[in-house]
Amino acid sequence: MEKLKILLADDDELTRFSLEKELVKRNYEVSTAENGREAVMCYSQGNTDLLLLDYTMPVMDGLEALCEIKKINKEAVVIMLTANNDAETAVKALKAGAHDYIVKPFSIDKLLGSIKNIIKQPPAGLPAGVVYRSEQMAGVMRLVSQIVVGMDIPVVLIQGETGTGKNLVAGAIHNGSERRQLPFVEINCGALPDHLLESELFGHEKGAFTDARAQKKGLFEIADGGTVFLDEIGEIKMDLQIKLLRLIEEKKFRRLGGTVDISVDVNIIAATNKNLSEAVRKKEFREDLYYRLNVIPITVPPLRERKEDIMPLSRHFMDIFNKKFNRNLQDIPGEVLKILLEHDWPGNIRELRNIIEKGVLLSAGPSFEINILPGELMLRACGFKKEPFPGSLSSGSSLDEMERNMLLQALGDSNGNQSRAARMLNIGRDALRRRMKKHDLFDSRSVVSAN
Ligand SMILES: Nc1ncnc2c1ncn2[C@@H]1O[C@H](COP(=O)(O)OP(=O)(O)OP(=O)(O)O)[C@@H](O)[C@H]1O
Ligand SMILES: [Mg+2]
Repeated sequence: MEKLKILLADDDELTRFSLEKELVKRNYEVSTAENGREAVMCYSQGNTDLLLLDYTMPVMDGLEALCEIKKINKEAVVIMLTANNDAETAVKALKAGAHDYIVKPFSIDKLLGSIKNIIKQPPAGLPAGVVYRSEQMAGVMRLVSQIVVGMDIPVVLIQGETGTGKNLVAGAIHNGSERRQLPFVEINCGALPDHLLESELFGHEKGAFTDARAQKKGLFEIADGGTVFLDEIGEIKMDLQIKLLRLIEEKKFRRLGGTVDISVDVNIIAATNKNLSEAVRKKEFREDLYYRLNVIPITVPPLRERKEDIMPLSRHFMDIFNKKFNRNLQDIPGEVLKILLEHDWPGNIRELRNIIEKGVLLSAGPSFEINILPGELMLRACGFKKEPFPGSLSSGSSLDEMERNMLLQALGDSNGNQSRAARMLNIGRDALRRRMKKHDLFDSRSVVSAN
């Protein structure tokens, strides 16, 4: 196998010497540079698979070099080595396109781990509309591609929190399969009352119930040959679960009011944000159906566990909404990205998508304006923990501090709506404004920088 070519830029001779030795020992091919400018020159000659860039260097520092290198090749793979262990530096590096950063001093094992992790990652890509850079999502997509190589997709169960991309993954499975030309029929099992859901899925004969004036085909018949996507499968009631189990096992069912079996050949993808094994334990979901569905489980991880995806996803959504609204938002400044990286994303990708949409619509220039972020994210960013309102006393907090914190919390919870914040605090709007003035909270930028 060809050796991986690493370009190492560090102004410290001893670091260059010892790192090169360690890397060569492990069968990497290493070239070195003494500063950023040299690194850019070396890189531009081609022949580099991965760059290790020291952050602080004379002539041209690591960050500048990184930007220059990204101009040459957007996909350049870079690990930043830094002596400052602060979020600021990390954010700058990641924002400029570094794949990882390592704080000095580090062990060689730590560096090797990072290198291995990066080179097995696919570049942030967009197979079937699914954007990701994280190893976790790469794992999900590997599983998807394994599933779709076969002619027949077995039953697949996709689990994950709301907004993690379950629908998208279901679509990717169908579109990657040989059935992609055949119907993909989607139904939200939580959106219909039980009897309607049954007739939607299985169809009915004329006269099966009062409103059944004509015979109707169900989705399983309509999708014959293709895929049925049963979203929110956890909402299906017990008696319908039995019918579904039979369909999966025997590929047969009867229409409502029907007396003959109908055979269909459909692939079934089910999704849920419920914990199904928990539902089984509570006897709300049939155990046999659960095991039948759970042959190939796919779990889409929450965004907070794959924060590397935040940047590529943000870019993706900026592109989408720039086109849609004919805007030109190009940049997410470091201070905004820092908040995005620190947030824990209960609404996952959907929440990020909404924030970027708002940013595209409301930013005046090409740069994402920080005051567009929802108040809740800003509060979290200034280290103010959410507590039952009103905030509890902690030792050492002055009255002024408490007042300020309560204002911040109320403004955050009300998304900056002053009337609502005033009501929450049980004071008049003028009183609120007086106090906001006192604490310099009018410009929401100061809300963010407050600590
Ligand atoms: N990896 C991704 N790349 C691009 N867009 C994504 C990705 N994941 C999710 N999205 C987008 O985020 C939004 C939410 O995704 P989706 O509807 O698939 O989530 P879900 O898990 O089905 O949510 P719910 O449980 O609420 O049904 C959609 O607009 C989807 O296109
Ligand atoms: Mg969904």
